[in-house]
Amino acid sequence: MSEKIYRAWLPFLDADVPETCKTPAEAAEYELEAGCAALKLPEPRLEADPAMGEGYVVSGGDGGTVITGGEPGLLYGVYAFLMAKAAGEDVPAGLQRPFYGLRMLNCWDNADGTIERGYSGRSLWFEGGRLAWDGARIRQLGRLLASVGVNVLCVNNVNVRAEAELLIEDYLDELARLAAAFRPFGVRLMVSIDFSRPLAHGVGTADPLDEGVRRWWKQRADAVWRAVPDLAGFLVKADSEHRPGPFTYGRSHADGANMLAEAVAPHGGVLVWRAFVYNCQQDWRDTATDRPMAAYDTYAPLDGQFADNVILQVKHGPFDFQVREPVSPTLYAMPRTRLALELQLAQEYTGHQIDLYAMNPMWRELAEELPPEKVCAVAAVSNLGRDANYTGHPFAAANLYGYGRYAWQPRVSPREVLRRWARLTYALPEGQQDALVEMLMGSRGVYEKYIAPLGLCWMVCPGVHYGPSPCGYEYDAWGTYHRANRDAVGIDRTAKGTGYAAQYPAQIRDKYESLETCPDNLKLFFHRLRYDYVMADGRTLIQRIYDDHFEGCAEAEAMAQTLQTLSLPAEDGEEARLRMEKQLANARQWRDVVNTFFHRLSGVDDARGRKIYD
Ligand code: GCU
Repeated sequence: MSEKIYRAWLPFLDADVPETCKTPAEAAEYELEAGCAALKLPEPRLEADPAMGEGYVVSGGDGGTVITGGEPGLLYGVYAFLMAKAAGEDVPAGLQRPFYGLRMLNCWDNADGTIERGYSGRSLWFEGGRLAWDGARIRQLGRLLASVGVNVLCVNNVNVRAEAELLIEDYLDELARLAAAFRPFGVRLMVSIDFSRPLAHGVGTADPLDEGVRRWWKQRADAVWRAVPDLAGFLVKADSEHRPGPFTYGRSHADGANMLAEAVAPHGGVLVWRAFVYNCQQDWRDTATDRPMAAYDTYAPLDGQFADNVILQVKHGPFDFQVREPVSPTLYAMPRTRLALELQLAQEYTGHQIDLYAMNPMWRELAEELPPEKVCAVAAVSNLGRDANYTGHPFAAANLYGYGRYAWQPRVSPREVLRRWARLTYALPEGQQDALVEMLMGSRGVYEKYIAPLGLCWMVCPGVHYGPSPCGYEYDAWGTYHRANRDAVGIDRTAKGTGYAAQYPAQIRDKYESLETCPDNLKLFFHRLRYDYVMADGRTLIQRIYDDHFEGCAEAEAMAQTLQTLSLPAEDGEEARLRMEKQLANARQWRDVVNTFFHRLSGVDDARGRKIYD
């Protein structure tokens, strides 16, 4: 057992879930007893109703409280009951069921123990080329995931390197043991696979239409499911950022996905195929190619061609997890395809789990733009790691908690989610708790103000993706250009420009095409504007850029002051304050670098005479 179990938003459950709990039903009994003892509550009766699956009902009456649920619904019901009681709130009434059947976390963990875009330490289950883990920590994580209903964990990086080939026989025993460790929590494993893998095993090709390749994948799938019978499926990144894929053989992504889908179908598996395809070797002088158009161009024509057990996983925006992107047009364009929405809890472009960035408000905006019914599943790149608190910044746990809540009910109120998380995690006086919640509610807006302006995206330091570098990606091959010169900035993506906006349904297209209706925060995503362009509020574009950057930085300073007023537990308080100091340095640097960049280009001074370095 670990020295200390980090309890996150379940502080009332301090004992380790015993290894003897093998099923969600056993975990439900254990957790209910432990939780009720800690909270000094009479213990409700548990009633299993297998037909309810993931659903549950908590009902009260003269005979006492009864929690009825399926597998793992009963366990979800237990956590819902305990968390509501611990927070002093009402237990949700009536039948509770998740909105999405698949609520996935994608871990970008490598076999050597590193994590791609990981900001909270090393992998929780890989080390030295093998699967290896601390059982108590895994059980605690399983508990956290189940308490918010996350039900699938893809354990290895989408960029599969040869050494992390989890499908080889050596790994299957370990994978089976890891699956068993998560099973009591209703969390099923998934693995990322490498499309070209048959080549490494003497099958002379990876062509998805080749009989030998099809046979090889079927045998692989059979072996994997023999070891882990409840594996959720395979996840694939193909023809993306130098990964192999069907294009090599002149085949479509439907050919590639369907071939793998056939291999996993007899086992009830899903084949999750990522739609992150674009030209990452673009010549920056090529203005005809517009990266955000790539996924739609590749996939929309394939609508209706994917097998029933294929899920196409699409990033929320057309670029790559930027702070402010419009919703990916691919998500509106494929009514006959099962789609998963891909989010990113790992704060790759959103502050590295150093800068505060609460995501539920962003997902809420997304749910307003894209009806949640348009997709059938959600996935999020994990923010987990081996740090004692799992997420590096103690407040980054709010994103993990909030993701589970969002996946369960995408229309949930972000403020309610953050309030519940804060109430469960920290016993703060009411006023302080409100201050923490409001600080988190506003954190994305603050970050957005001091980074690249008004939907322009990028401008980050290449590679690390933290800190400012206005031209870091400008003359590069990644298709991420802002094309700022002395007169104007941005790319025209309307019909007069690249035509990207036409990928949307007409109403959305029209909103973005017109400068009058395009929201300010996306103006530079859709339009190329002169610095003297006058915004709706009367400010020029250049003045708005300066104002946002000064304001964003001042607001970060105000957050630092708020943080000082919170009586957090010592460890979390110190960690949060240390990270806030780094955030302040980052915010100031962004402010100065971005303001100087545009000042030099435009030659326009700040109307309010604030300090801009020359
Ligand atoms: C980004 C990120 C990569 C990652 C990729 C992906 O480009 O920087 O690290 O591999 O997204 O989503 O596959």
